[in-house]
Amino acid sequence: MEKLTVRDIDVSGKRVFLRVDYNVQFDDDGQILDDFRLRESLPTIRYLVERGARVILCAHRGRPGGRVVEELRNAPVAAHLSSLMECEVRSLKECVGPSVEAAVAEMQPGDLLLLENVRFYPQEEANDPQFAKQLAALADVFVSDAFGTAHRAHASVVGVGYYLPAVAGLLMERELTYVGSVATNGEPPMAVILGGAKVADKIGILKNMVDRTSLICVGGGMANTFLRAQGIDVGASLVEVDRIDDAHEIMRLAASRDDLRLMMPTDVVISDASGTRINNVSVNRIPPGFRILDLGRQTLEDMREALAPMKTVVWNGPVGFFEREPFDRGSIEIAKMLADLVGAMTVVGGGETAAAVAKAGVSDRLSHVSTGGGASLEMLQGASLPGVEILRDR
Ligand code: 3PG
Repeated sequence: MEKLTVRDIDVSGKRVFLRVDYNVQFDDDGQILDDFRLRESLPTIRYLVERGARVILCAHRGRPGGRVVEELRNAPVAAHLSSLMECEVRSLKECVGPSVEAAVAEMQPGDLLLLENVRFYPQEEANDPQFAKQLAALADVFVSDAFGTAHRAHASVVGVGYYLPAVAGLLMERELTYVGSVATNGEPPMAVILGGAKVADKIGILKNMVDRTSLICVGGGMANTFLRAQGIDVGASLVEVDRIDDAHEIMRLAASRDDLRLMMPTDVVISDASGTRINNVSVNRIPPGFRILDLGRQTLEDMREALAPMKTVVWNGPVGFFEREPFDRGSIEIAKMLADLVGAMTVVGGGETAAAVAKAGVSDRLSHVSTGGGASLEMLQGASLPGVEILRDR
């Protein structure tokens, strides 16, 4: 890896400012809905604790807009992390100031402390240098595991790195190794499976990867726009009319290359507005008033066959209305197909896609499931992420 990691520096006894992405949600009973991001950060935390570092964790939740929002406090995150780590994680109600400085001064080797939601401070998103300096003054080293937030040039993601030596944590290292490598030089033949609602979100990936890809499979809401661009009547399905030209452009690009196959759904699962009538039909037989909600059986079978020879597969975005059964079936099937690919590098990105993989029970049979939504999208589009740029080069 091009960037220095926590393994390249001496952290023994040091105060470490560890930026993590704990942007997670809780239900009304205060139970965490998905602790994937927390679990993925544990190797770095354990690594630091085992070496006697004093670990000052910094994280954001939601978009509180620079003010205190009670429901977005970090205290429940600290409690959950504490249960995962089986040790105390002290939760503070601020990120900077005398009480924080006193709490840090009291820390012993191996202690963990979580600062308050850093987005309660307007200076965070403004990447205010004074604020970054105050955060940096709490520690000796900056370790970043916040891959999911690395596309944000915020004070705790980037600014702190101006004042402290900044290195990647073990999760960041994994993310850069897998997402970074498929974005730039995945072993051919490579397939990209794209789903999710909007063509707009994925057009950049298509354009960046089209030259290096042998197979592009399109599903989810965005497929409707491609189908419409082919002149297919998609009934009451949502279509991004202003993106039909983009769909044409991608189809033209794909047609200009003999060694690239662009796979569109040939059959789909549809439902009427009441959600009671559900059918699997050809894309040419969608009755008025029906909406496409998932890939059909034949399309999934064709995808399985097309994916079989692939050496690299990248998947971003569910291929159906994943939140509601039975329209999660296509996404779950794809997760299983990827898990069954022998000898291929399989990289999955995006919160809902990761959830589909978890629901299919195959997370540990894929090469990598990214904790980043927007960040992995940007990396797959070929963008450089400010939260990665700030880390020291090897
Ligand atoms: C995420 O959940 O994708 C990251 O934490 C970034 O959150 P944001 O989109 O609110 O910046």
